[in-house]
Amino acid sequence: MTQTVAAAMAALEAHRVEISQHGIADFFAGDPDRFARYHVELDDLLFDYSKHRANDATLAHLLTLARVAGVEEARERLFAGDLVNNTEGRPALHMALRNFSDTPMQADGVDVTAQVLAERARVFAFAKAVREGALRGATGQAFTDVVNIGIGGSDLGPAMAARALSPFGKPGLRMHFVANVDGADLADTMMDLDPARTLFIVCSKTFTTQETMANASAARAMVAGALGEDAVGDHFAAVSTRLDLVAKFGIKPDRIFAMWDWVGGRYSVWSSIGLSLAIFIGPDGFESFLRGGHDVDRHFQDAPLQDNIPVLMGLLGVWYRNVWGCQAQAVIPYDQRLGRFPAYLQQLDMESNGKSVTRTGESVALGTAPVIWGEPGTNGQHAFFQMLHQGTDVIPVDFLVAAQPTHADPHHHALLVANCFAQSEALMRGRSLAEAEAGLLAQGMEAEAAAALAPHKRFPGDRPSSTFLYRALTPRQLGRLIALYEHKVFVQSVIWDINPFDQWGVELGKELCNRLAPIVSERNASLEGLDGSTAGLIGWRRGLTG
Ligand code: F6P
Repeated sequence: MTQTVAAAMAALEAHRVEISQHGIADFFAGDPDRFARYHVELDDLLFDYSKHRANDATLAHLLTLARVAGVEEARERLFAGDLVNNTEGRPALHMALRNFSDTPMQADGVDVTAQVLAERARVFAFAKAVREGALRGATGQAFTDVVNIGIGGSDLGPAMAARALSPFGKPGLRMHFVANVDGADLADTMMDLDPARTLFIVCSKTFTTQETMANASAARAMVAGALGEDAVGDHFAAVSTRLDLVAKFGIKPDRIFAMWDWVGGRYSVWSSIGLSLAIFIGPDGFESFLRGGHDVDRHFQDAPLQDNIPVLMGLLGVWYRNVWGCQAQAVIPYDQRLGRFPAYLQQLDMESNGKSVTRTGESVALGTAPVIWGEPGTNGQHAFFQMLHQGTDVIPVDFLVAAQPTHADPHHHALLVANCFAQSEALMRGRSLAEAEAGLLAQGMEAEAAAALAPHKRFPGDRPSSTFLYRALTPRQLGRLIALYEHKVFVQSVIWDINPFDQWGVELGKELCNRLAPIVSERNASLEGLDGSTAGLIGWRRGLTG
């Protein structure tokens, strides 16, 4: 940590002591304009950050931190296509996939515009042909089901987005996503599908990922078994950087779509990895989704730091993570169709910033990625909200909600919105012991019983939250939401001085699995050299399967 960053953190720490005397409600009481001053609009999306333990001084300290940590310079390097992924010697240029400006984007000095547009045109032509039934299966039937086979970034983005945008999908076309090496995933998905009307898209940046290769081979065998070996080519497409490996798998050249090393897996939904989504919502819908991402790129690049949503998101996250010691961040969409959004953000945030060494390999000085988790409201209210309101840990919450539904029931939607706003109010406001006791007495409870019960009905309050309120969950709006979180993660990585674009932490488990797989499948294989627990588990399993 540089001295200037250390000084900015120390100033924040001292400021926390001072500000802890005041609750969030006090800030509103002393400032009737607080909501007006503590929100940012991005077209028809509003980011409300007024319900935070932060005042003007807090924001000034946080903005100083951003400046001395070099957020603006790092942002320039990112958009310039510099080798910001220093451990893999690559740029991170997912923004080039959604660039609608006149300024070309360069990956390490090479303009990528032409290749991006050419590949997108191929994806769109293929998507259109599948949607219109021009492209059919081996028996001449149009496709009714598309199965995306991939994992991590080759699954979560399209799976989350297809569910989020279901009202924009082509009627009669069903999307399925198979990720897990657990054979149940593919088996359950295929249960009601007719191979003759099913298109499989194998998505893998590396085309070596164990889970994806196992599922792709099994799906291939199913098609060959049901329709004959010659039918396989008509039922498969693939997306990868390893075009050689895809060709070897037996996929026809005109159904192989490229992506590039400069697109990280968890940033790849904007690339050909979005093929299944493009088929589902169509080229126009997909372009709109890309434009949403581009809206945010422009905002992130152009808006002053104090009005910059990803910068504010990132800084408030650092405030709670590093100064208040919060270890988790909840993301609660009041939007059933965003049910997979928290899982998507888990990979985006925790695979990017779950690191403990700096860009140059020293131990980090500050805690990094919080635990990201969440479920849609209102369901979560009847499950884990108890802990958010009265648990011993403070967990900042992001609420997401649309002003208008993408279904036809305004009554349900009004209830949904009221619940969302009520929860952030309750978290902030809390209820004092005296209020709890007075409420019980007002209901006619005896004084002694009221005093005994009141502590259980007390809410500490001052639990912070942000609210994203947008007109409706359209493709463009979803593109905006994703890109806001992408850049938030980037801002935090700069402050923590870590590389958010590599993921070495997933390697060790993969290596050990490769070593264990033959020992697990071969019951006479020697257990020598394994640790006691692993050997014991394998031995027990042998007993249970014997
Ligand atoms: O889990 C590690 C990871 O490499 C992710 O970063 C990636 O999104 C996922 O595996 C899938 O990788 P691939 O697209 O190469 O199959």
